[in-house]
Parts: sequence; structure tokens; C-alpha cells
Amino acid sequence: MNSSIKKDSLELSSKLTELRRDFHRHPELSFQEFRTAGIVASILRELGMEVTEGVGQTGVVGVLRCSDGPVVALRADMDGLPVSEETGLPFASEEEGKMHACGHEIHVTCLLGAAMLLAARKHSLRGTVKFLFQPAEEINAGARALIDNGAMENPAPQMIFGLHNHPELAAGTVGVKAGGLMASVDSIGITVTGKGGHGALPHRDIDPIAGSAAVISALQTVVSRNVDPLQPAVVSLGTICGGRANNVIPDSVKMTGTVRTFSDDVRNSMEKMIRRVVENSAAGLGCRGELVYEYQLPAVMNDPAAAEIARRAAEEMVGAEGVVVPTPSMGGEDFALFLQKIPGCFLWLGVGNPEIGAVHPWHSSLFTADESALPIGAGVLAQAAIFALEFLARN
Ligand code: NI
Repeated sequence: MNSSIKKDSLELSSKLTELRRDFHRHPELSFQEFRTAGIVASILRELGMEVTEGVGQTGVVGVLRCSDGPVVALRADMDGLPVSEETGLPFASEEEGKMHACGHEIHVTCLLGAAMLLAARKHSLRGTVKFLFQPAEEINAGARALIDNGAMENPAPQMIFGLHNHPELAAGTVGVKAGGLMASVDSIGITVTGKGGHGALPHRDIDPIAGSAAVISALQTVVSRNVDPLQPAVVSLGTICGGRANNVIPDSVKMTGTVRTFSDDVRNSMEKMIRRVVENSAAGLGCRGELVYEYQLPAVMNDPAAAEIARRAAEEMVGAEGVVVPTPSMGGEDFALFLQKIPGCFLWLGVGNPEIGAVHPWHSSLFTADESALPIGAGVLAQAAIFALEFLARN
């Protein structure tokens, strides 16, 4: 049975390529994945599953009840990005200003492939497999929407797997790592308030531009002087906005940024450290510094037992030499919210191939992927579900 997952997934290659190209032609933005969800739902129904549509707005949940036993979930995200595709591929996006520039159509296709492989084995599987097709990963909202709308109950899965394509890993490889794989994502908003006036008479004003400069400089020490050097952390500002004329000192300056960490201890200390810097650096120049700290996503922390299951599943598809232990990414993923509820593993599917130009990073208008990865992704997910059902039945 195990060896045939590989054989059967390879036989699905052309079907998966066709599906992927169709999804790629018609990318949909976060919470607008109506067409994609409709296709997903109809395929799951054809496979004999119980299907619920409109979960968390545009999500689709399929349940494959095989027999009494444990429940395992597999998840794919479905949304595209507001990027204009420049690949020139024959199946490039036909939707103006929208593109699957993060390859989420690959994830949808792989999960549909896994659904086909598992549905064909319904009578020999012990337990239930739940398929979560999630909207709106790009805006960190879809996993939350699925969870809030009951996707993790009735039946409640005990373990979950998901994957993301990775253009820096060669097609034919799979990246599996226990522990932290992707960083937590928090957002910060900073306001530095002074007292505006004439640029020629700064002694009568309180300059929030100078105050902001002090805050920005001091923020560089939050990570370098306060965080354990062996713990990854990033504080980056992405916007700064203040003033409207060259000779007017404005009343205030606003900035926004992102904070990334892996360990809970570091994450929990960031707000206090950043607040101290913002308030005191601004105060040093007579301004008022205020911080709004918004906790968005925890880090993607892979469970060791689930990672071992994923590693064995990947080995079935690409051999031991094809399974790599990847370097973690400071990027974030809302798959982390599922992992807060139950153990699981998020893995990376290699799609890189310089010969076909599959070298561009996520969110690039030139992003593309080696389609030979499609049956591998489908097979790894299906195999991981089978191994996980066996593992959970034993434990
Ligand atoms: Ni993505």
C-alpha cells in the first residue's frame, strides 16, 4: 500500500498539472476565493466526502470518514496576491492585477491530489481525514476564520499537516524540520507627537521629526542590546509618515513596523522593550512617544512526533536523500494557529528549478514553480495522513 502512494501520485501528474494551471489562470484575493472554493467543493463531493462550503467566508471543509478511529487534518491555503504577473507563461494569470505569486494554487492542487489518493483507499484507512481549504492566508485572517467557524470540531482532528512550496529548495526535495520553522508575526504602530510650527523657528516648536529619528535609531538596539544573541528576532519599520511642507515642523509622525521572533520568551518581552525605547527616546527630545503593539500570529512550531511522521512520508516520495532539514524563515504563516491547538507539522515542498526560471522568491511578479513537485506534494500529504492515523491509533 505504501509504495503505491508514490506510484498512484505520479499517475495523477497530468491531472494535477491541469488543475494547477487552471487555478493559476484565475487567482482570487483573500476572502474572494469563490471560484477556487467551488471547484474544490465539487471535486471533494465527487470523491464521496461530506463537504461544507462557506466556512470562514470562503473556506471549504471536506470530511473523509473511513472507519472509527483517530482524526487527522490536512490544510491548504487558496488565496492569490494583488501582483501583476510578468512570467509570460502560457497559463499566466488572466485576472488583471492578481497573481498566484505565492504559489497557493500549488497547495490547493496538492491537497486535492491527496484527497484523491486517500479517497481511493477509504476502505483500508482507520479513522477520518479532514481536508481544510483555507481562505485569506496572505492577510493572516483565514486560519482564524476557519477555527472561529468550527473547522476544528465535529470531528476534532488530533494532528494536522500542511505544506508551502519553496523556490529555494530544489524540486524533488522536501524540507522537514521539528521545532520552529517560521517566525511569529506582530505589528507595531508608533506615534511621536511634538508641537508643530515654522521650520525657521524650531526653538518655539517641539520637533517630532527629530524625535522620530531618535526613536528609529534607538529601536536598532532593541534586538542587538536586549535579545539573547542566540535567539532570532527582527524589528523592522515599514512606513514613516509625517509632515507636508519643507518649511513646516509637523505636529506628529506616525510609523508602522513588524516584529518577528521564534521563542515565546523573546516574543513576550518585545512589547515592553519597544515601548520603553519609544517612550523614552521621544521624551529625550521633548516629544511624546506612543506604541500600539498588536499580537498577530505565533511562530510555526512543528511537533517532533508529527515532524517525524512528515519526514517518513517525504522519504517515501523522494527518498532519504531528497529530505532536507531547512533553515527556518523569519516569514510567518497562519498555519501556526492550528499548531497552537493541536500538534502537527508544516513542511516545505521544493519547487525550485533554474532551468525553467523557478528561482524567484514568494510574492515576485516572476514567481514560478516546477510542476514535477505537484505529485510529490500530494503524495507526501496523503502518506503523512496515513502514517499519522496509524501513529494516533497506537498512542
Ligand atoms: Ni504563501
